[in-house]
Amino acid sequence: MHLLRSLLIVLAALMALPQMGAAQAVDPEVQRAEPDAATTTLEDILRRQEGLSSDDTAARRALTGVREPTESASDGPLGTLGGASDADLWRAFRFDEGEITTQARGPASNVIMQGGGQWWLELREGPVLHWGGYLLLGTMGLLALFYLIKGRIRIEGEKTGRRIQRFTGIERFGHWLIAGSFVILALTGLITLMGREFLIPVFGLELFSDIAIGSKWLHNNVSWAFMLGLIMVFVMWVAHNIPDLTDLKWIAKGGGIFTKGHPPAKKFNAGQKMIFWVVVIFGVSVSASGVALLFPFQITLFEPTFAHLNSWGVPSLIGMESFPTDLEPQEEMQFAQLWHAIVAFVMMAVIIAHIYIGTIGMEGAFDAMGQGDVEEQWAREHHSLWAEKKLSEGAGPTRGASGATPAE
Ligand code: HEM
Repeated sequence: MHLLRSLLIVLAALMALPQMGAAQAVDPEVQRAEPDAATTTLEDILRRQEGLSSDDTAARRALTGVREPTESASDGPLGTLGGASDADLWRAFRFDEGEITTQARGPASNVIMQGGGQWWLELREGPVLHWGGYLLLGTMGLLALFYLIKGRIRIEGEKTGRRIQRFTGIERFGHWLIAGSFVILALTGLITLMGREFLIPVFGLELFSDIAIGSKWLHNNVSWAFMLGLIMVFVMWVAHNIPDLTDLKWIAKGGGIFTKGHPPAKKFNAGQKMIFWVVVIFGVSVSASGVALLFPFQITLFEPTFAHLNSWGVPSLIGMESFPTDLEPQEEMQFAQLWHAIVAFVMMAVIIAHIYIGTIGMEGAFDAMGQGDVEEQWAREHHSLWAEKKLSEGAGPTRGASGATPAE
């Protein structure tokens, strides 16, 4: 009987053991103290990461043991809170409160940390990269659809075999300078933005590194050719691109795309004028932001721009209080990069459409830039007012049916 009682006691003790173990295990949910005002909470950290302000008042600092900004985090005396911890130091860097001196004397070298970097990186690697890509693919898709439905825009009338000069040598040089450099800039720019995501998996790290270095070199240096081409194109063609009444009529008729016959146009029709002004305005903007990126921290573009936009009340139009006007040098660069990429994407989309219409989209168009002259019938159909003027001025056809310049 005694033995049986002893056995039962041992058995009961064994059954109770796992429960005792469970009671001793630390359950993080149950055991952790409720965060009080003296604890740096996850919410605080997340808010800081998002660039939002967390409760960093003096009262809170006193509770959390954070030193006042006036107390140097690095060399203050040992107080009741002990020496400056790593957290104190990094917090001082993060909120620009430490007395930071650096040996590097370059611009922006005394900013050790700035929260905008995370926001910028996420925007650059996320929406800018992806929506930019969709914009280009969407444009190509629409053009392919247009080609499938409408086909090539042909010269409708009988070809005359006579040709009219459309662009001089210098005009074509300026065009191909801006065109060639733009294509190189677009490709190398896309490699820089998208290479990590799309090319590293294909080429591997080593090869992509070479591609990226080459791309950057080309992009930085070819930019000057683009700017020169932009100036040339602007000077040579601005007079032909001032909007006038003919353009309204051309637009009202949808450029003749959906109707029979072509609305009258001078040297450039309204569609071409739009391309011209996109190239000029966006070209200047992409160049300005590009030069700011090329010479880091030397050019301040966004602070004054935001200040102007604020004074014109623009932020309220999009439901914002105001644009930031107290930018760290790095933030200037971040805005320059984002703007550069966004403007470049819009330009690329427009230029893809331009290249389409200048090559496979329209019969006889490429000749204008290729050899400098066009079929008289093409000129009469697409630029009737310009063709009449040219012919009446006695410019006459430059070449006969054989393509040879006629004898005087
Ligand atoms: C790379 C391929 C390109 C081709 C095949 C091409 C073709 C052409 C052609 C054929 C014209 C003359 C149109 C006419 O006679 O009415 C033209 C004009 C023009 N091109 Fe290009 N182009 C290219 C790239 C570019 C680029 C990259 C830019 C600027 C960034 C550009 C800017 C212009 C401008 C402003 C005009 C005058 C306005 C207009 O015709 O739209 N082109 N191009």
